[in-house]
Amino acid sequence: MSKPVILTGIRANNDLTIGNYFGAILPMIDMAKTRSDEFQINLFIPDLHSFTTPIDHSQLYDQILHNARLFVAAGLPLDNPDIYLYRQSYISAHSELTWILDCFTGMGEMTRMTQFKDKSGSLNDDRTSVGLFNYPVLMAADILLYDAQYIPVGEDQTQHLEFARDIAERFNNKLGHTFMVPEPVKAQHAFFGKDQGLRIKDLVDPTKKMSKSDDSARGVIFLGDEPSAAAKKVMGATTDDLASIKFDPQNQPGISNLLQILALLQGVTLQQVRDTYEGQSSYGDFKKVVADAVESFLTDFQQRLAAVDDTAVIAKLEQSESALQPIAGDTLLRAQKAVGLRR
Ligand code: ADP
Ligand code: TRP
Repeated sequence: MSKPVILTGIRANNDLTIGNYFGAILPMIDMAKTRSDEFQINLFIPDLHSFTTPIDHSQLYDQILHNARLFVAAGLPLDNPDIYLYRQSYISAHSELTWILDCFTGMGEMTRMTQFKDKSGSLNDDRTSVGLFNYPVLMAADILLYDAQYIPVGEDQTQHLEFARDIAERFNNKLGHTFMVPEPVKAQHAFFGKDQGLRIKDLVDPTKKMSKSDDSARGVIFLGDEPSAAAKKVMGATTDDLASIKFDPQNQPGISNLLQILALLQGVTLQQVRDTYEGQSSYGDFKKVVADAVESFLTDFQQRLAAVDDTAVIAKLEQSESALQPIAGDTLLRAQKAVGLRR
């Protein structure tokens, strides 16, 4: 297994939105399909990361499977041997390497992590878990265990990625070459052609992004929404009083967002949608087109989701997990030898 590795995990404690779908899941699956000739693709569910903040544990098991199903419904092929789909907690080397890396990690550098500061800020000290504090170290283990070279993540995760590079270099310098150091963030951006900058906006407040973590779901379309209810959300979307359809995110953010959403749903370029609708004056008619497109997309997606064969998904997970265990085990052994736990 000598292909370079592209690795990523997506954490989802909530249902995902069409923003997550078009902004993260589809590009990830696209990448898996188009790059698997030259790269080994590791897609995983960071299930140990999913309770670094408090959750309802009676839902966790189903949520993990649901996430795997979402990938499949979105088009992830289960029969491609170069694509691995696995659960972090099923490969125990993730936890074991985390402990070792913990002992080379400074309290200070973890305290400075933005995500830790943001998330712990809303919890009191006793509810802020050591797991939340430790989150980036587990993430570094996720990456280093497989000698991953490229790691597509959102902007908010780049600090953690930098940390994975730092700890790998620090460990190598101190104890001899053990880990492959992932590419620098800049090189990653160049590789993935970052900054296509897709940001679907909230339907009610089109100046902010549509987010699954939003308190009010009125402007958010979830993949699990009742299709007709989602269509209603589109009909109620905030627009403007200029009465002329134009892609102008600055002055007409609502209409521009709907044009963008329509292009994604129809699988055509934004320019094609603009050519068809710009200059028209009836927002009502246009919204109806978008609402219908949302409704049929969700109906279709939910049908595909319902048709996903759980047995096949679980078989793929188990197959990937057993194939990766020895690989992760080898890296763990290198680290154990480096620190003097093994000869
Ligand atoms: P959320 O704000 O929905 O909780 P996250 O910050 O967890 O989303 O992001 C998960 C992934 O989905 C990231 O890769 C992010 O870039 C992508 N994403 C999230 N919201 C949007 C959006 N509105 N438009 C496009 N992509 C998005
Ligand atoms: N922290 C990532 C997120 O919140 C998920 C994640 C965990 C991850 N481990 C990873 C992503 C390793 C890439 C590589 O989205």
